[in-house]
Amino acid sequence: MTHEIREITAQATYDLRHRVLWPDHPPDFVKIPTDGKATHFGALDGARIVGVVSLYPVGTDLQLRKLATEAACRGQGIGSALVRHCIQTARSRQVPRIFLSGRLSAHPFYTRLGFAAYGAPYLVEDEPCQKMEMLL
Ligand SMILES: CC(C)(COP(=O)(O)OP(=O)(O)OC[C@H]1O[C@@H](n2cnc3c(N)ncnc32)[C@H](O)[C@@H]1OP(=O)(O)O)[C@@H](O)C(=O)NCCC(=O)NCCS
Repeated sequence: MTHEIREITAQATYDLRHRVLWPDHPPDFVKIPTDGKATHFGALDGARIVGVVSLYPVGTDLQLRKLATEAACRGQGIGSALVRHCIQTARSRQVPRIFLSGRLSAHPFYTRLGFAAYGAPYLVEDEPCQKMEMLL
């Protein structure tokens, strides 16, 4: 199934971010101080947002953060489509690099999409993470 990917507000990402990424934390835990400077994308199933991702300017680069697909909708290509949309956006803005701090569990997923790991794995809230980047 193809889902439309559209730019959405930061506010519209919070529910899915919270339910998928940090359900055991208070809802405000998923807000990022620079959300107002970021670009947010949603994958839509009709009017329902089933996937989200956000792109934050960091120096001359863009950082991909808070990728989440509704649990019942995984494995349909939504996450990949959102990441590809971010890569296209980064290319159209002519930034030199897109990077992320991903969960180690998602490492093969990002590798398939063209990201390369750099640096050693580390922990965020007990979750093993890995920095990954794509030079554009
Ligand atoms: C990562 C995530 C966004 C992928 O979304 P999706 O819509 O299922 O992505 P796609 O359908 O394009 O790709 C799914 C593939 O990625 C794999 N995958 C990606 N991330 C994974 C993860 N964190 N855990 C397990 N499998 C993952 C799936 O096994 C699947 O592989 P397959 O196609 O060989 O079966 C989704 O699994 C998710 O929301 N996970 C929880 C939150 C998370 O880990 N976010 C990323 C933080 S860096």
